Amino acid sequence: MDPTAPCQRILFVCLGNICRSPLAEGVFREHLRRARLTDHFAHDSAGTGHWHVGSPPDARAIECAKHHGIDISDLRARQLTPQDFLEFDSILGMDRENLQSLAARQPTHKRAQVRLFRDFDPKGSGEVPDPYSGGPQHFERVFEMIERTTRQLLTALRASP
Ligand code: 4NP
Repeated sequence: MDPTAPCQRILFVCLGNICRSPLAEGVFREHLRRARLTDHFAHDSAGTGHWHVGSPPDARAIECAKHHGIDISDLRARQLTPQDFLEFDSILGMDRENLQSLAARQPTHKRAQVRLFRDFDPKGSGEVPDPYSGGPQHFERVFEMIERTTRQLLTALRASP
């Protein structure tokens, strides 16, 4: 990512960076593409944990996104770094545990505003539940949450300078 680019920079964060945050990044990327806003935003996703670094998204997440016409198979997991707090404008955690991990790691001086992703959910705030131990229906439920939240997030970001 080019930190000098004149655009808003959004980072999606979950625990493993193989289920929720790559889905959120992939859906956000697709909304940008459809709205021809690709040049106005930079995006990435990261995990608070290190276990899956370098891995593609979970096969169930890839399949769920594909079912909705979105390809996330190119994404690769990475772990959150201190630099992320300086480079991104918004860091969006999927659940409160993610927010706690983010709060514990944030440097004193940071650029990023850290928030719960579903603060932008038009159907109500809360957490995106971890689908890792669930089945396809859990991924589908998570996808629906992410889809509507990401749509509203983009509307809110476009309205803010
Ligand atoms: P994510 O899901 O945080 O949405 O990527 C998880 C993926 C892996 C693990 C936990 C949650 N794990 O324990 O390996």
